[in-house]
Amino acid sequence: MNVFITRIIPESGLRLLKEAGLGVRTWTQKRKMTREELIAECQWADALLSAGQQLDQEFLEASKHLKIIALHSVGFDNVDIETATRLKIAVGNTPGVLSGATADTAFLLMMAAARNAFYMNRKIIDGEWDFFEPTANLGKELNGCTLGVFGLGKIGVEMAKRCAGAFGMKIIYHNRSRNEEAQNELGAELVSFDELLKQSDVLSVHTALTPETEGKFDLDAFKQMKPGSIFINTARGAIHNEKDLIQALENKIIWGAGLDVTNPEPMQPENKLLVMPNVAVLPHIGSATEGTRNAMARLAAENIIAVSKGERPPFLVNPEVYSSL
Ligand code: DGY
Repeated sequence: MNVFITRIIPESGLRLLKEAGLGVRTWTQKRKMTREELIAECQWADALLSAGQQLDQEFLEASKHLKIIALHSVGFDNVDIETATRLKIAVGNTPGVLSGATADTAFLLMMAAARNAFYMNRKIIDGEWDFFEPTANLGKELNGCTLGVFGLGKIGVEMAKRCAGAFGMKIIYHNRSRNEEAQNELGAELVSFDELLKQSDVLSVHTALTPETEGKFDLDAFKQMKPGSIFINTARGAIHNEKDLIQALENKIIWGAGLDVTNPEPMQPENKLLVMPNVAVLPHIGSATEGTRNAMARLAAENIIAVSKGERPPFLVNPEVYSSL
């Protein structure tokens, strides 16, 4: 079986594929592949290991011989899952292994926004660290605040644990279904979306991008939030409306924001969010630790190796492909 890989991945994943006797080719150029390039490369392959590529209907129809697409991510909003399932292409992802690292990033952004940290750092670089003013550069304390989690899954739980442990934060959440385990472990309380907006001092987004969550945080939503609140998004940029977020921050409808994801990505350097004092932006590095990226590469490789042995991949997004066989 032959595997085409769209980006250079950590050695641990590559080694597993090679040890399993699979043929491997990797795209090594530092740019996203075009759809046409990807289709052409996949003609040779039986499996695709994909990081950061848009896999739409046109690509899938042209690559229907693929047995599996193993994503090097937990998110799968970049894949037309319906079409893949219809074409009986298994799609696998990397759940669980990046929860801690992504929650660390959400926590970092919360702290950075609360203390204007990125802006303060830029002031030093710009030669503006002059004299001490007791009334200047004031941030927010988070002790005893309420954390609202939009999407209390694995990553949301890790963020909640950090906030409860570090600051004794009360945890509320909004989900489609109750998370009994988190309720028991963290005393987390399930609330309506409106209550989540109204009660949160920090509102952190940890849900998948779906038609239901796309644009969910718009001006109407921000207007329901507390004027002193901080909005954090480490999930997907399209879940918040960026223009509305800028307006909410400029008009002090909310206090601050921390973003690891933007819409579009990459964010342009002229973006107003980058010069706002209470805003911290990172370039989608939630899972970017050595341990986590190695674990993701291994999971993606394990998904492919399972298929090469005629087995069901362990981390499947569309199990229907197997149940209908
Ligand atoms: C994921 O795994 O979905 C992360 O956002 C990296 O893309």
